Amino acid sequence: MNPELPPETEAGQQTWSQRFESALHPAIARFNASISFDLELIEHDLTGSQAHARMLAHTGILSREEGEQLVQGLERIRQEYREGFFRPGVEAEDVHFAVERRLTELVGDVGKKLHTARSRNDQVGTDTRLYLRDQIRRIQSQLRQFQLILLDLSDRHVETLIPGYTHLQRAQPISLAHHLLAYFEMAQRDWERLSEIYHRVNISPLGCGALAGTTFPINRRLTADILGFEQVYSNSLDGVSDRDFAIEFLTAASLIMVHLSRLSEEVILWSSQEFGFVTLTDSCATGSSIMPQKKNPDVPELVRGKTGRVFGHLQAMLVLMKGLPLAYNKDLQEDKEALFDAVRTVQTCLEAMTILFSEGLAFRTDRLAEAVDEDFSNATDVADYLAARGVPFREAYNLVGRVVRTCLAAGKLLKDLTLEEWQALHPQFASDIYAAIAPRQVVSARNSYGGTGFEQVRQALQEARKRIKD
Ligand code: ARG
Repeated sequence: MNPELPPETEAGQQTWSQRFESALHPAIARFNASISFDLELIEHDLTGSQAHARMLAHTGILSREEGEQLVQGLERIRQEYREGFFRPGVEAEDVHFAVERRLTELVGDVGKKLHTARSRNDQVGTDTRLYLRDQIRRIQSQLRQFQLILLDLSDRHVETLIPGYTHLQRAQPISLAHHLLAYFEMAQRDWERLSEIYHRVNISPLGCGALAGTTFPINRRLTADILGFEQVYSNSLDGVSDRDFAIEFLTAASLIMVHLSRLSEEVILWSSQEFGFVTLTDSCATGSSIMPQKKNPDVPELVRGKTGRVFGHLQAMLVLMKGLPLAYNKDLQEDKEALFDAVRTVQTCLEAMTILFSEGLAFRTDRLAEAVDEDFSNATDVADYLAARGVPFREAYNLVGRVVRTCLAAGKLLKDLTLEEWQALHPQFASDIYAAIAPRQVVSARNSYGGTGFEQVRQALQEARKRIKD
């Protein structure tokens, strides 16, 4: 029997090490294994192991030739994987064992030296961080795409008016671009949040060993440099058991989903017959299997729906961590499916929403123009009119409240009152009241910084383009 390999039972099944006499129960082996999902990490595992092998050679822990053989062997596994030949099964337990085994098949006994001065605990932490770093960058570039689409759409709709709501009651008309730019801002914060989190993801646990460091003269700074980590964990226990970075990412992912979900909810409302503010184009809407007249907003509904599972992953991760004693515990294997699914969900939702907003919906400007002209959303402007002429705002406010009530009873809108009626209400009203309460004027007059006035919105659009260029 080869003393370096875990012994086999009579049935030829492998045991863990020579400490064990018999193999795992097959159901327990399946239960224990993470290969079905952690294969997602393989490219990062190979990269991490190559850095480790280089460091082992550089520090003289292994010879130069040995280091080179390991690096080459790992590169061959990468090729095999990319070409679809390397597909380890449950017998490998996890991606780390799968790679080490294949490496030993490829390069012989030197493959068994790869794991010198390392543990799967610091290894898996390294892989997960390398993975997340990549995915954060991808999500950030998707956020940028989405922002650009919002800007293009806003460019075309600075002067398109849409009712603005509070309490989902018509409040004041606004520029449609102003409404869309609110989502640009949310996406901008999402992008910035990811940049900040990135620094805390980008710390190397490699070299923390199982929990306590290693007896070998390793060089942690070297592996960190090769892998592009900004820092190394300064406490080995913390390094192998910290998952704060995953929780922070899931928080950021949850907020992205909150924003996408709110926008989705608006599209769903807008596309209803009751609102009728947008029509969904055929490329992004679906029909009903029974009601031939229907066109359904499946895309925003799915985004709204998928939001829940990302929140769920955040919650799961928080609960996973709260009771764990130091350092590594197998519970931590559960971090991966939460992360992977959250990453995939955010990415597919961002992609779908970007397509939806670039070609999936058309604003019904006729309906929007009607909508802002048929309500009392210019009532504040009547009060502002008086207040600007010296009437205390609260007094003006009360007076306009009475006017609205009378109008409602008479089935009229504010614009329907005659000049005599206006002047009977207050001597300050003059014929320019009609211009002052026309929807376009109402919007354009809100020219305070950050407001919906067209000038402000154009300014905001320019600023927004500049901000995402830098
Ligand atoms: N598959 C394991 C995980 O994902 C790798 C680390 C295993 N470490 C251990 N001590 N059992 O967490």
